[in-house]
Amino acid sequence: MAGSGRDGSFNQRLADCAATLASAQGAEVTSIRLEDFDLPIYSHRLETTAFPESARRLKALFVEQDAILIASPEYNGSVSGLLKNAIDWASRPTDGEGPLALSAFRGKVAGILSASPGPYGGLRGLMHLRQILGTVQMLVVPEQAAVPFADRAFDGAALTDPVAAQVLPLLVQRVIKTAGSLK
Ligand SMILES: Cc1cc2nc3c(=O)[nH]c(=O)nc-3n(C[C@H](O)[C@H](O)[C@H](O)COP(=O)(O)O)c2cc1C
Repeated sequence: MAGSGRDGSFNQRLADCAATLASAQGAEVTSIRLEDFDLPIYSHRLETTAFPESARRLKALFVEQDAILIASPEYNGSVSGLLKNAIDWASRPTDGEGPLALSAFRGKVAGILSASPGPYGGLRGLMHLRQILGTVQMLVVPEQAAVPFADRAFDGAALTDPVAAQVLPLLVQRVIKTAGSLK
């Protein structure tokens, strides 16, 4: 998934490249678009009075996965509100779970990516994302790809940035191998 719902999103393109590689490496891939879930902003009042069906659906999808690949735009040095809000909702207990269940994330593997038209490729946002995913008890693989000058890093759907194009298959491979070992 990508942390951007923008038409023409570079991070969506990056997420699509990662999904294609993961399929080619034998993984069963579910691609989602966070904007399709139309999640309200997290609020404790909503959580306790009318837990949104959309948040329940998103969380249930995560629960089914062994690993998650996330391409995250950098917004003001951090992750986008769209992505953080999705993680926040999915981190909440449902169906009688205890507060620390974190069933959407605990013990699952994450691979993180970013793309930005800027020179650092969204690297600062990735540092935050790594920390957030660690907090919800995911194992984030050490490889990561931050694609700089993203407006020039793709040829249509294909990733042409030479460094990222080398790192991405290795990252995807590490995610699949790690998730397989943990199963
Ligand atoms: C609110 C906002 C804050 C942004 N802050 C940063 C930033 O800190 N660093 C950066 O490299 N780009 C920043 N950008 C530019 C994004 O990297 C750019 O819009 C990028 O295309 C977003 O990813 P997307 O193409 O997947 O939507 C920001 C964009 C927005 C809308």
